[in-house]
Formats: sequence, structure tokens, C-alpha cells
Amino acid sequence: MNLRIIEKEDMPQFAEWANKPEVLGEYNPLRQMSRTEVEKMLENPSDLKPFILEKKDGSKIGFIIHFHVLHLGTGTKQLEIGYALVPSERGKGYCTEAVKTIVDYLFLSREVIRIQACTDTRNLGSQKVLEKAGFKKEGTLRKYLFIRGEWRDAYLYSILREEWKEPKILTKTSE
Ligand SMILES: CC(C)(COP(=O)(O)OP(=O)(O)OC[C@H]1O[C@@H](n2cnc3c(N)ncnc32)[C@H](O)[C@@H]1OP(=O)(O)O)[C@@H](O)C(=O)NCCC(=O)NCCS
Repeated sequence: MNLRIIEKEDMPQFAEWANKPEVLGEYNPLRQMSRTEVEKMLENPSDLKPFILEKKDGSKIGFIIHFHVLHLGTGTKQLEIGYALVPSERGKGYCTEAVKTIVDYLFLSREVIRIQACTDTRNLGSQKVLEKAGFKKEGTLRKYLFIRGEWRDAYLYSILREEWKEPKILTKTSE
């Protein structure tokens, strides 16, 4: 599996995934975004960074994103990740590998002290991925996500730099 930063030619595919209930799964909020909205969102450098997950044969199987969560009171920015795979490629270990890779990349390339993720409390697959990648559950965010017409509780997970210790997949020279 390869993880690479999104390119212009991936935009139509990313826009399609971002609008597709089958790809977002049962535990992600649904939204409809035009290609132009997706492009604008991706042009904002401080906002959202998508990476495309590709199999060795070059087929695109999903995405992983990182974005900033801002604490307005202090101006503190934390990094959060999110991900989704096309249904036919789930359960094969790809997302665990992708999360480990992006964690390596972020800790190697930035001075961040934590990376966080939040997931619907029913989303067992996502929780397992995070735990396998070394994240710890911090607690419950009550009625945090609006999904399919109801406010859902979510778990907040994080991994701290001191827990990560060293790269698991990337090496310092392969950054
Ligand atoms: C959640 C998701 C990203 C998991 O990706 P994946 O590539 O299938 O996960 P992996 O194959 O790396 O699986 C990791 C572990 O979770 C388990 N797992 C995966 N899906 C599961 C599910 N639905 N229920 C329970 N366990 C599950 C796997 O069996 C594996 O455990 P094991 O190593 O002990 O066998 C994928 O199901 C998906 O894209 N879902 C829709 C989008 C989504 O929910 N994104 C997350 C939003 S927070």
C-alpha cells in the first residue's frame, strides 16, 4: 500500500468519495459537496490535507486526511486525522497501515506533540484501527457527531509523541 499526497488529477475521485454514502460508511456525517467546493477546500493550505491510499498495482482504494482543530481561547491547534476506504478493500489491514504511516509522517515532519481522531462509539472497525496504531482512548464526546438525523456520542483518541517513540513504517531517510 502506498500513501501519497492528493494531486489535481485525483480531485474527481476524491469529490466522488466525499459524497458517497457507501464510502463514508454508516458512521460519518453525509454531506454533498460540488467539485468546486472540494477544490476550494483543498486549496486552503492550513486546512485539510488528503492523502490517497493506493495499492501496489496503482488502484486507488481510499483516503486519509489530516486537519487542524483550533482551540480559540488559546489559539492552540491540534492535528486530527480521518479516513475511509472503498467497501471492497476493507478488512485487509490497509487502514491500519495507512494510519501508522501518517502518524510516522506527521511526527517526523512536524513539531506536533499529539495526533487525535474521533469516531462514533459504534464504529468498532475504526476503534480497532486506532488501537492497533497505538492510539489511546481519552473519553467520550457526548452527542458530538450529527449522523443520519441524530446526535451521536463519539470517542476521542490520541497518540502522543512520547508514546509513538519511533517510526513504525517510515524511516527518517524515507520522509
Ligand atoms: C473503519 C475503516 C476505515 C477500517 O478500515 P480497514 O482497512 O477495514 O481496517 P483494517 O483492515 O486495518 O482492520 C483493523 C482491525 O479492525 C477490524 N475491523 C475492521 N472492520 C471492522 C468492523 N466493521 N467491525 C469490527 N472489527 C473490524 C479488523 O478485523 C482488524 O482487526 P484484526 O487485525 O484483529 O483482524 C473502514 O471500515 C471504512 O472505511 N469504514 C467507512 C469509513 C469510516 O467509518 N471511517 C472512519 C471514521 S472515524
